[in-house]
Order: sequence, then C-alpha cells, then structure tokens
Amino acid sequence: MTELHLWLRHETRTTERRTPIVPSDARRLVRDGVTLTVEDSPQRVFPTGAYEEAGCRVVEAGSWVDAPADAVIVGLKELPDGPEQLRHRHVFFGHAYKAQPGAEALLRRFVAGGGALFDLEYLVDDNGRRLAAFGYWAGYVGAALAVLHHRGRLSAPLRPTSKEELDAELQPAPGEAEFASLVIGALGRSGRGARVALAEAGLDPTCWDLTETRDLDRQALLDHELMVNTVLTTGPSTPFLTDKDLDDPGRRLRTVCDVTCDVGSPYNVLPVYDTVTDWTDPVRRLHEEPALDLIAIDNLPSLLPKEASTDFSAALTPQLLEFGVAGAWGRDLDRYHEACRELDLTQGEFRDA
Ligand SMILES: NC(=O)c1ccc[n+]([C@@H]2O[C@H](COP(=O)([O-])OP(=O)(O)OC[C@H]3O[C@@H](n4cnc5c(N)ncnc54)[C@H](O)[C@@H]3O)[C@@H](O)[C@H]2O)c1
Repeated sequence: MTELHLWLRHETRTTERRTPIVPSDARRLVRDGVTLTVEDSPQRVFPTGAYEEAGCRVVEAGSWVDAPADAVIVGLKELPDGPEQLRHRHVFFGHAYKAQPGAEALLRRFVAGGGALFDLEYLVDDNGRRLAAFGYWAGYVGAALAVLHHRGRLSAPLRPTSKEELDAELQPAPGEAEFASLVIGALGRSGRGARVALAEAGLDPTCWDLTETRDLDRQALLDHELMVNTVLTTGPSTPFLTDKDLDDPGRRLRTVCDVTCDVGSPYNVLPVYDTVTDWTDPVRRLHEEPALDLIAIDNLPSLLPKEASTDFSAALTPQLLEFGVAGAWGRDLDRYHEACRELDLTQGEFRDA
C-alpha cells in the first residue's frame, strides 16, 4: 500500500480561520502512519506550533504547488488563482458542480494538470448522507445572531468569536421577555444547532421539519416573532414566505435568519430577498410597517472557527485514514469525473490510488 501523504494548506481567504484538520487529529493521523505536512498559516485558529508538536512537518504557506505529486492537498475553501494546471489530488469544497461562477475554470485547471478534486460536499455515506459538514455550527451561530438582533444587542461588524463569549451574550437580561421562535428544518444538522442556541438564549422554539410544512400553516408561521430557516431543499417546495406575507399587517414575525441561503436557486423557500448579507452588514430590513429584518450570511461557521473546525475534523479524520479510490472517496472521485464529462473535459483522469 502506498503511504498516505496529506498536505494541509493555508487558506487563501483572509477571514477564514477554520481548518479541516485540528492538531489533536493531526497527532492521530501521524500516529496511524500518515505523513502530514502542514503549511504555516497565521490566520488559522490553531497555532502552527501545535501541529509541529503533533509530529507534522511545517512548510511555508502556499508551498503545496511544489508538493510531491503523490501528496493529497487538504483545505476548505477556494484555491488561489494560480497555478493554471492542478496536478495534485485536492480535498476541499470546490463549489464546482452546480454551474457556480468559476466552476468550469476550476475543473479545467484540474484536467489540464491531471489532478483531481475530491469535493467535501460530495463525500457521502452509502445513504447519501454527508460524512463531514459544518451545519450544526451554522445553525447555532445563525440562531444566536437572530436572537441578539431581535433583542437589540447585535453589533457589527461581526468578528470570529468563541462559544463561551457567544453564550454569555445570549443570556437573557433580567426581566427580558420571552418571545415565540420557530426553527424550520429542525431535525437536520443546522436545525439542531439552532435549537440548542435558542435554548441557550432561554427560548423554547417551535420545531418544524418535513411533516409540519407539508401542509404549511402560514398563519402559525407568521405568529412567531423570530424564525430560523435551516432546510436543505433538493426540489421544488412551497415557499415559507412570500411578498404578500411581508405586507400582512397582522404579521408578528420580525426577524428571520436564513441559514440555508439558497438565494437565486429555483428551490429557494424564502424568495423574498435576492442578496445575502455579510459580516460588515449582517442585517437587512426587508419591510417597514410591520418591520421584517433578515440575516442571510453564507459563512456562519467561520464565526466560531475553533468549535466548527474541531467537529469537522473529528468527522473527517476517520475518512482521511481511509483515503483511496473505493467507498466514499471512490464515489466522490466518480462525481468529479462526471462533472468533467458534463463539460466535455475528458482528459487527464486521475487513476492512481
Ligand atoms: N449559511 C451557512 O453558513 C451554512 C453553513 C452550512 C450549511 N448551510 C446550509 O444549511 C442547509 C441545511 O444544512 P444541514 O447540514 O442542516 O442539512 P440536513 O440535511 O442535516 O438538514 C436539513 C433538514 O431540512 C429538512 N427539510 C428539507 N426540506 C424541508 C421542508 N420543505 N420543510 C421542512 N423541513 C425540510 C430535512 O428533513 C432535514 O431535517 C443547507 O442548505 C446547507 O447548504 C449553510
């Protein structure tokens, strides 16, 4: 069996403090015989020294471009614009299979270099369930921001924080009134996170999932003051809010956090806005009289980088130990080849294990 060489890269995006492999899991990988090279990265929430102590070799940020051909480059978000040819196997969120901007260009770079993309979004078990995901902390942070805004205590710009600090802010002030809150998609990963954050804030949310929205009780939905949407849609479904609901003078709903952030998708269940919000301006007023405010941030887990990384890494590490061309990784590689074929990019398939 070829020895596995993983190469943890520095993230290009300056606000990205998360990592897919935390130092304690790095230690486990090294102990189990993996060669783990780690790029120095000042923004990463874990110090480089902790990886060194775990037995990793430390190299300069961005040096993966010159890594040995058999190294598997592991990251989270986008690659830098160069090099033009990608000759390695890369594990990260490529966002390249749904005709996203830049998707074809990225796949072309892989095909040109003979490398391959193992997209983390498509690393699934036999039942199609994601094996490593950030959903829980997306829901947690999204619900927390919604509560803080609803209570008039959200200050911008947002900055990465810790769960302890966030939880301290979430505690209700003495005498602060409870209000009706709703989580839709409550049985999913993000939904669970949202429920736990709302409980931390002293609230007892109504929880809806597929059963409760099949025959949508619009009035009941609008009677909640705060709503967190965490559904994962893969087909058309009834929108939870329409422009008509925004105009409804009897609406009690004042704050919506759309964790799902499916803006522009035909399956969007909240077709009442067309642009996400961000860390600088996290809240947008969608309607006056009665007011309705929206939070729709598409990188929520990055606001709790340590917790999000720790959970993600715990789920990913056992998969990395199995890295190859069979099972979940095999399906993932098939998905990459399928995407290339759809674009007629058929050369340079990566066949090595
Ligand atoms: N904003 C962010 O930063 C961020 C981060 C991570 C994930 N997400 C997104 O959050 C969404 C949820 O992710 P997840 O990991 O929690 O997914 P998940 O599959 O674990 O859970 C989704 C839940 O939604 C439910 N659902 C689907 N359609 C529904 C409907 N019409 N009515 C009620 N419930 C419905 C499902 O039954 C499931 O329980 C995804 O779209 C994901 O891309 C956003």
